[in-house]
Amino acid sequence: MEWKDEFQHGVLWQDFQHRQLLDNINMLVASVTSGNNDVNAFKKAAYFLAQYCTGHFKLEEEYMKKHGYSLAAAHIEQHNDFIRDFNKLFNEKNLNDAEKSTALLHKLLDWYAEHIVTSDKLLANFLLRHDIE
Ligand SMILES: [Fe+2]
Ligand SMILES: [Fe+2]
Repeated sequence: MEWKDEFQHGVLWQDFQHRQLLDNINMLVASVTSGNNDVNAFKKAAYFLAQYCTGHFKLEEEYMKKHGYSLAAAHIEQHNDFIRDFNKLFNEKNLNDAEKSTALLHKLLDWYAEHIVTSDKLLANFLLRHDIE
């Protein structure tokens, strides 16, 4: 999936991390569809992405809590949904099944596009409105 202007909301750290996230998900998709079946390389990239996501979600959630963001609960639930689906990638059966991994990664990409233009945009607007960097 290509980066789109609508993914950019004007909060520097958030925009930067969203770009990194997309690059990393795309790398995973490429590693699955390249057909070279390097499970270790895939695992490495997936673990990296898992950590990056956790850090990104945590940071957004810290901002929400610190500044009394009223939509925090629903937003955090969406993060948890992503983590739950992402973890399915590490299931041995899925790891060795390119079709299943690809389907899961596309689900994550759909989540990404939807979450960033809705929930993350609302959060960004809130932060910008309150001059929070
Ligand atoms: Fe988010
Ligand atoms: Fe985000």
